[in-house]
Amino acid sequence: MKQIALIAILLFTSFLLLHARPPGLGDQQIARIFSLERKYLQNAWDSVKATGRMPRSPQKGFQPIEDWTSGFYAGSLWLVYQFTGDKTMLQKARQATAMLEADKDLTHNHDIGFIMYCSYGNGYRLTRDPAYKNILIHSARTALTRYNPRVQSIMSWNPQPERDWKFPVIIDNMMNLELLLKATALGGDSSFYRVAVAHANTTLKHQYRSDYSCSHVVDYDPQTGAMRRRDWNNGNSDPATAAWSRGQAWGLYGFGFMYRDTRDQTYLQQADHIAAYILNHPNMPGDMVPYWDYSAPEISAMRDASAAAITASALLQLAPLSVHGKKYFAAAEKILSSLASPGYLNETGKGLFLLKHATGNYLRKSELDAGLIYADYYFLEALLRYKELKKKYRSV
Ligand code: GLY
Repeated sequence: MKQIALIAILLFTSFLLLHARPPGLGDQQIARIFSLERKYLQNAWDSVKATGRMPRSPQKGFQPIEDWTSGFYAGSLWLVYQFTGDKTMLQKARQATAMLEADKDLTHNHDIGFIMYCSYGNGYRLTRDPAYKNILIHSARTALTRYNPRVQSIMSWNPQPERDWKFPVIIDNMMNLELLLKATALGGDSSFYRVAVAHANTTLKHQYRSDYSCSHVVDYDPQTGAMRRRDWNNGNSDPATAAWSRGQAWGLYGFGFMYRDTRDQTYLQQADHIAAYILNHPNMPGDMVPYWDYSAPEISAMRDASAAAITASALLQLAPLSVHGKKYFAAAEKILSSLASPGYLNETGKGLFLLKHATGNYLRKSELDAGLIYADYYFLEALLRYKELKKKYRSV
């Protein structure tokens, strides 16, 4: 009898062990990551104040506020303030955000959305300061100056004859649409919303392949609006097959909030398809921190922690909206657990960046295998979303 009971206990324990979910990230672990990030932001502060430049990466150091990455430092300060409630972070977030005000008139490329939404957008979300709201609407108006109604898109970069680009649009541009949707929601007129929808529809039509991967660049004819060709600037250089991992993440993130804010099912379907492409990709490593391009792992084993962080944040944004929510939460949890492990997390408290092993542009040999301010920003954002959703998904 005793033996039978013992066997039953053993079988039951093995069943539990086999089916137990990995523990995920605990609240203390998340708090420790935010406290490390607080340190890195603090380490950069004196230089930011003295130069008016924002940290970007170990290789590129501090960059002027026109750089596309300039909003992520202020954005990270806001996210640390959100998590900790630390008033010194609030003060610094306000100061760093104010340093970016001139960017509300930035027209030389499309990056105003990245810059102003991460800084002023978070600032407004957390403080409801009406001055931030006005700057956000002003910035959205500036973004519209690059919109061409024939192409039905916002031009990402200026024409480049040496690359035979007349109206280049990059997948990253999806991220700028969040500023436009927000501007309409904040009481700016509906033209912002309409442009966001038009741009997303054009991207969906021309940038994606039948397997729901996308090229980095699409060039259009500004006179007729016709698509001219797909091209590359980041990721693998074959525009027919390249699947730059950060680009796939930008698209997933962008179509996710397009659905969240419009409730158009087309965007949800697109986001679900992109997620399936990423999550089922045979070249996805076991720890789910992707190589720099899904199509080319044989060229180099180099990972991109920024693509992982953006993917995790995008999946967590999508989870409550999709029937695949449970799967997305579990995938994001796996990614975040990898990024929070010593292999990816800078635990030294030294330097300026939280994550290691991010890749700026592999083929251009730019910012390889190190920290990147935007990897950290989206990691923090994903952790905040994770903490919120844990209550819902860890119990189902
Ligand atoms: N938006 C530029 C990049 O992701 O590298």
